[in-house]
Amino acid sequence: MLASRRVYIENYGCQMNDYDVARLVEVLRRDGYERTEAVEDADLVLIETCAIREKSELKVQSAAGRYKGKTKEGALVAIGGCVAQQEGPKLLRRIPNADLTFGPDQIVNLPSLLRRVKTEKRRIAATEVIDVEDYAFLDADPQPGDVRVTALVTIQKGCDNHCAYCVVPNTRGREVSRPVEEVVAEARRFIAAGAREITLIGQNVNSYHGVKQLDQDGNPVDDQFAELLRQVDAIEGLARLRYTTSHPKDFTRAVAEAHRDLVRLGTWLHLPVQSGSTRVLAAMKRDYSVEEYLAKLDHARSLVPDLSITSDLIVGYPGETIADHEATLALLERARYDAIYSFAYSARPGTAALTLGDDVPVEEKSRRLQEVQALQRRITGERLARFVGKEVDVLVEGESRVGGQVCGRSSGNQMVNVDLPAGARVEELVGRVVKVRIGVARTNTLAGQLPSESLSDMISGSLDGALA
Ligand code: 5AD
Ligand code: SF4
Repeated sequence: MLASRRVYIENYGCQMNDYDVARLVEVLRRDGYERTEAVEDADLVLIETCAIREKSELKVQSAAGRYKGKTKEGALVAIGGCVAQQEGPKLLRRIPNADLTFGPDQIVNLPSLLRRVKTEKRRIAATEVIDVEDYAFLDADPQPGDVRVTALVTIQKGCDNHCAYCVVPNTRGREVSRPVEEVVAEARRFIAAGAREITLIGQNVNSYHGVKQLDQDGNPVDDQFAELLRQVDAIEGLARLRYTTSHPKDFTRAVAEAHRDLVRLGTWLHLPVQSGSTRVLAAMKRDYSVEEYLAKLDHARSLVPDLSITSDLIVGYPGETIADHEATLALLERARYDAIYSFAYSARPGTAALTLGDDVPVEEKSRRLQEVQALQRRITGERLARFVGKEVDVLVEGESRVGGQVCGRSSGNQMVNVDLPAGARVEELVGRVVKVRIGVARTNTLAGQLPSESLSDMISGSLDGALA
């Protein structure tokens, strides 16, 4: 039996990092570590980093500095994730208290890397990227009691696109898809351990297992990803299925049809557009025009009228003119997203966009960002208002931050706070899909109550009937 050691983890990353942290915890648990929330108790401080935008990178440096002098004698500091992948040796130079940096492909090797740091008494930057076809994905080993209502299952690593602003192809390597059987088996293990929702994750899930055939209209025909959705959707005990993130050029009719046909597949589509100007999209090397993008949105909405669509946008891309920016505002009015994530462009090391310069001044980027966000706030408000007075199915995830309420997500991925009925306990509702009558729409969330019929259903224990 190994002596118990403790690991403290801080995560600055995206969903991919959340997934990586879950695997790190498992790998370390097998090596005798347990997690602690107190950095002073830790034998290992682990900082998980993200390189996609400048801010997350800066946070890492200040986090590492903060722990200096706070850790116990002999504790190691390790930095993982995309920044570690990209700048490992440089990070070791800049952060004197860091002992190890390791990229996403080195997770499985972490225990042996830590041992080498100790025995060889030297600092190590482990940055090998493994992108061979038969790359072995780390199988998750979910334990009952550890899993939440929602679980992430990775279906792919890396990215073969070449978006000119993006570091991911450098930090996570070539795209490798995980075999269907492995994905389905892992999803089953999460459900067996108590999860109710599965989110399939990858940088570009629509290109799962490769090149698409084109139909006679030139549209890609997707069989692989749509087929994967069908297989996971059929798992017994699953309440809801989601996936992210999609690239518009690879988003196919077959996947839109899956949204129409599969009851458990949520009515939510994250389809990042990045810009409303076809000229800027070309400079970003996104491989679609605004018109092609909108045609895909219209088609998906024609199949699933209540589809909630979200997007990512970058403002202030090199060469973005006022006219391009206005085209982005016009796109927001036309696309009527339910929500967006918007960012000011930041030049990233090793990307193609570096050669274009960074000519939109910082203040102008921030003005454009505010304009985009203000407009979207109005549209989000209008979109959320459609639910007021209606009933929506909410998968309850846990207690809400406001007392006396539980929270969860609707099929369209809206966060919903639900009043806890008198006499009901939070644990009775967690993991259940409940009908909620929406009373109010707030800035980004909805709130409502359980209608009285579903309360009596709850008492008789038949609430999950519709989804069983
Ligand atoms: N600058 C600003 N935003 C970026 N993103 C990716 N790279 C950059 C960059 N260099 C945004 C994109 C992407 C999201 C995850 O982060 O909008 O979809
Ligand atoms: Fe980056 Fe583009 Fe790949 Fe997304 S699709 S990870 S933005 S290169």
